[in-house]
Amino acid sequence: MEAIGLERGLRERRAIRHYSDSRVDDALLAEIIELASWAPSPGNTQAWKVIALGHDASKDVIARFELAGWESVFPVLEQVLRNGAAERASIAPKSDLDDVSPATADEWGRRVIAMYRQRFEVRGSPRLVFVYRVADRKRYVDLAFLSLSALIRRSLRKPSPLGAMRCFFAALRDIPVLLRVNALTRTFGLANFTYALTLAAHSRGLSTCIQSNYLNVQRDLRRYLGLGADVDIVASILIGYEADDAPPAPEMFRTRKPVAVDWIETTPGTVAARRGERVFEAAE
Ligand SMILES: Cc1cc2nc3c(=O)[nH]c(=O)nc-3n(C[C@H](O)[C@H](O)[C@H](O)COP(=O)(O)O)c2cc1C
Repeated sequence: MEAIGLERGLRERRAIRHYSDSRVDDALLAEIIELASWAPSPGNTQAWKVIALGHDASKDVIARFELAGWESVFPVLEQVLRNGAAERASIAPKSDLDDVSPATADEWGRRVIAMYRQRFEVRGSPRLVFVYRVADRKRYVDLAFLSLSALIRRSLRKPSPLGAMRCFFAALRDIPVLLRVNALTRTFGLANFTYALTLAAHSRGLSTCIQSNYLNVQRDLRRYLGLGADVDIVASILIGYEADDAPPAPEMFRTRKPVAVDWIETTPGTVAARRGERVFEAAE
């Protein structure tokens, strides 16, 4: 197979929802998963884990959970359609889905389902892969205590009680930030891995679509698959061969807008005000 360069891979990978019935065998999937494991993660923790459903299991789960996962999004989609209709009222409708005429609540409901069926419903026989981490709530408690004890130690070293108190309360504000950054970076690691899966699959001639709808029904899905409550699914992804007759993705998904970039050439040259109040010694 012709090797795809990195730039072509980045530009040409598309979310595909119409698949053929050609099978993706375990060996190829394992190869793709290994390739994706070169994704960066915080401290190289590689906290991602994978559940790979076979074709039959994928078909079953898609049939049982795809629409259920979408249903909780339908009210939001309906609002988007209603807002869009108001916006497009001055333009000629481009398709049935762009119908701008006023509608009853039932008709709006039908339009949303029509939109889902036309644009998002998955066809064919892809494999479904879940990227998850093991939820470890104790870790967050430990991290909070670790930070707290570090800042108490740090405050106690201040020469005056007032200085110690000021240092303590100022640094206390850092703990929620620390916890938030920790949670975010852990998620970033799994997100990087998920995107790498799409690129790795693309490099092997396969198509993918990241699917968040399954996360909406995660609890039922876990129960159905017999997974423990500590399985925290962060992403689900379809992997398969694109159907020959797959329609092109809607224009709104195929384009990219320019990225808003603030270029900063010079800095004010002043030092951040709270430097002396940091929790950790390393920040000094
Ligand atoms: C985090 C994430 C969640 C997504 N969830 C869904 C989904 O639930 N259903 C779906 O059909 N596509 C989903 N997509 C695919 C996006 O719609 C798609 O990536 C986007 O429209 C851009 O199109 P492209 O991937 O073809 O460039 C998701 C993508 C990402 C990154």
